Amino acid sequence: MMKKLKKIEKSVLQIYKKNNPSVHFVLENKKKFRQRKSNLENLIFNNLKFPKKMFEKSDLIDFGAGTGDTTIVFNNWGANCTLVDMNQFAINRAKKVFEKLSKKNTQNKFVKASIFDNRIKNKKKYDIVSSIGVIHHTADPKLALKKISKFTKNGGYLILGSATNEGFFQRNLQRLIISKFVKSENHEEIEKIALELFYENLYRAKKFGGRSIKAIIHDTYVNPKIKGISFNEISKCLGKDFSYYSSAPDINIIKNFDSPLSYKDNIFAKFQNLTVISKILMMSNSDHHIKKYKSANENLQKINKLNFNLNKNISDFNKSKKINIKKFKYDLGKYKSTFLKTNIFIDLFNEHKIFISEVEKLLFHLDNCSLKKMKKFIISCKVLFKKSGGLGNNYYIFRKN
Ligand SMILES: C[S@@+](CC[C@H](N)C(=O)[O-])C[C@H]1O[C@@H](n2cnc3c(N)ncnc32)[C@H](O)[C@@H]1O
Repeated sequence: MMKKLKKIEKSVLQIYKKNNPSVHFVLENKKKFRQRKSNLENLIFNNLKFPKKMFEKSDLIDFGAGTGDTTIVFNNWGANCTLVDMNQFAINRAKKVFEKLSKKNTQNKFVKASIFDNRIKNKKKYDIVSSIGVIHHTADPKLALKKISKFTKNGGYLILGSATNEGFFQRNLQRLIISKFVKSENHEEIEKIALELFYENLYRAKKFGGRSIKAIIHDTYVNPKIKGISFNEISKCLGKDFSYYSSAPDINIIKNFDSPLSYKDNIFAKFQNLTVISKILMMSNSDHHIKKYKSANENLQKINKLNFNLNKNISDFNKSKKINIKKFKYDLGKYKSTFLKTNIFIDLFNEHKIFISEVEKLLFHLDNCSLKKMKKFIISCKVLFKKSGGLGNNYYIFRKN
């Protein structure tokens, strides 16, 4: 197993040495750095609900820190950072990033090591352990997660960003298509075909992620390893020592409406299959979701009103209050008939229906399709390979008990 791990590690490192995937801003460009900071504020504070004060004076270790473009922001929020990466080139740039941008009076360390090496010898535990966009590029994401999670202090937090197979479904299809047209491991050819067929996804990823097109192509299509890990696998792997804190996108779509004083988040273990709803959205959800939510919202408007009417019949009830049972029955009947006709998932899943039929068409033509025809087919798609092309990283925070 270790032999296989090391083989994959070597091939991933080769790609990363050629083209570093984690450069999000140019050191000289203050505006780009501010943008990176603001994106991460949005992710960590707003979406993952993890307040800034958690970073202040904390000890943080970032595994697969790359060029430090994420870690430097954690440092700016007050963390003393230890950056671990297997790529010396990435560490060299991370050092420059920290020289220029790190917060005064913080202590930061740089360690060239693999997650699998057991080379970080001190037994130190950290307030925050982070690893973003890393474990799915290893041959064994579960083992990688086990290794890094051991560094978390009791009461400390683990911030993880990792790919899911659902979120990468479209990118894996794209890798399959490219392999049909590029026979050898010719990186220039892969770049050329990727740009020709998937420019829409690529330019969008550049716009929102800040990385260069070349870096995205290398990380997505040239990179030999992208092995997703599901939420259920993550929670199983972390076991009882960790509790779920938050995720973005929120995988907890089906909420527990019992008293929050009594339930714990093992709702996921009990109702594993319900997370398929978030998986479906991860596969084909794109910018169109606002449209889908808009029509779901319109559909629910009627129900919302009837629900209000129904509840009003019995609200603030006390013995002295007279209930109009006839009206109550009428409102209940209206509510029932409208409720039975409403299916919010139809709106949410409509896009997925189109997506499924486009994947069917693709598979049908895959083997005897010229590049020109393929390009035409891709242009004609409405959902497949459009906009985001599936979810990249899903982010999670867990608390060590
Ligand atoms: C896509 S980059 C992400 C970098 C950074 N976390 C960020 O948020 O921008 C993946 C990084 O993980 C590193 N990496 C991959 N496998 C690793 C391993 N087994 N041990 C240490 N670093 C690893 C790579 O060298 C690369 O710098």
